[in-house]
Amino acid sequence: MTRPLMPILALLIALVLGLAACSDDSDEGASADAPADESTPAAEMPEPDPEPAPEPEPEPPAAVAEPGLPDYTAGYRDFSGLVSLEIPENSGAPHGGVKNVFATADREGATFPDGAVVVKEGERGGDQAAIVAIMRKVAGVDPEHGDWEYIEYSRSDPQSPYTVLAQDQVCWGCHMGAIDNDWVFTPSP
Ligand code: HEC
Repeated sequence: MTRPLMPILALLIALVLGLAACSDDSDEGASADAPADESTPAAEMPEPDPEPAPEPEPEPPAAVAEPGLPDYTAGYRDFSGLVSLEIPENSGAPHGGVKNVFATADREGATFPDGAVVVKEGERGGDQAAIVAIMRKVAGVDPEHGDWEYIEYSRSDPQSPYTVLAQDQVCWGCHMGAIDNDWVFTPSP
């Protein structure tokens, strides 16, 4: 009975040894490779592609104030708060014969909101904007005069920068006449 089993046993032993050897090899192989994998620094991992930046909205070209005028008047001809006025030559008005009035905002109830800018152009010698009179509402700046800053500029010709002509005190006397309309003569549309 034992004899016929011998070759089978030998075969089994050989198989087991063989397998053991194989598995040793593969273990060594794996353990040799593993550190290489682990030592790959995370920084070297390829970064996932960043989200593509959204297309920037095309911005309208920023308006720039006329040379010599304050920045807050930039693009004043596009202000939409007050009607554009044409004042008769014979009105005796102080800022020239033909005027356009522009405002960033209109009255809210009786008064203009904080930050409102009102610009009046006065014509002289063919220059439609030879004189630019400005009122700017700044909360708390001058409660006695409607919290407006008043300033007026002029230029000698359209190629020259504006310079200050007058401001504040010079303006109050007349504009007090419009005190019930927040110191602004031009009526709201
Ligand atoms: C002699 C009177 C008088 C003086 C001084 C005067 N204004 Fe005026 N202003 C007016 C009148 C009247 C109007 C209304 C529109 C018009 O008739 O020109 C006006 C209009 C304006 C406007 C357009 C808004 C509005 O009230 O209708 C601005 C801005 C302005 N003036 C600024 C000034 C500034 C700044 C000064 C001082 C540097 C000044 N004004 C001095 C009489 C005057």
